[in-house]
Amino acid sequence: MAIDPRPLGQRLMEDNWDLHRQAEHDTLPRHLVQGTIPRETYVELLGQFWLVARVLDGAIEAKRSQVPVLALVADEQLQTPYLEADLEHWGANTAAIAPKPGAAALIAEIGRCEREEPIRLFGLHYVREGANNGNRYVAKALRRAWGAKDMAGFSYLDPYGERQRPLWESFKARLDEQALSEDEKREIVAGARSMFEHIIAIQRDFKLPEPEAAGTR
Ligand code: HEM
Repeated sequence: MAIDPRPLGQRLMEDNWDLHRQAEHDTLPRHLVQGTIPRETYVELLGQFWLVARVLDGAIEAKRSQVPVLALVADEQLQTPYLEADLEHWGANTAAIAPKPGAAALIAEIGRCEREEPIRLFGLHYVREGANNGNRYVAKALRRAWGAKDMAGFSYLDPYGERQRPLWESFKARLDEQALSEDEKREIVAGARSMFEHIIAIQRDFKLPEPEAAGTR
């Protein structure tokens, strides 16, 4: 098998950027970035990510001792607490949240990875952690649009504040130092691609009209 000489962090970025473009430019994320998403849709979206986070956080915690690269996932990167705090802030009834098809498919895939290919869990996690790079902008846009004075209700989108960029850079640097085989690296990149596809499906479960072009409002 040919060995890819690029560091894993670089592979993850370059080999997924086609899917990143899709994930960023779909209808729902454009509403997020422009601050035009209806608040109830936003809260419903948080609910879908909460259902997923509970399962992915649980799988990572269960496999951390067996899969060394999962030790890179710090406790503050587990997303369930942020989502629970935000859902409570917005008054959501968590008992009534049910998975739409996109979240249900991702939850099934997390279970499959946990049972059959636990190293892929890291690829899944890398994508949701990396999404914080864009989510900070979304938090700013929504706070502006909704006149929010503080960060209450936005801890999922902006969990680290000013620490976000340095934390991300150190996470990727530590990733590159991991001793991983070519097979393991491929599994991680494949897991990341599947996470992008699943998140795109979750976004597409929400039917919204096309937003106005940015800058015309
Ligand atoms: C909502 C609109 C979005 C914007 C404005 C946005 C913006 C960004 C920016 C500025 C970066 C940093 C790129 C760099 O380091 O040069 C980034 C990285 C990243 N984004 Fe997004 N993004 C968005 C949506 C998403 C979504 C929906 C996902 C996941 C499905 C995602 C996953 C990632 C990942 C994994 C990275 C890390 C790339 C790497 O360094 O390996 N983004 N994004």
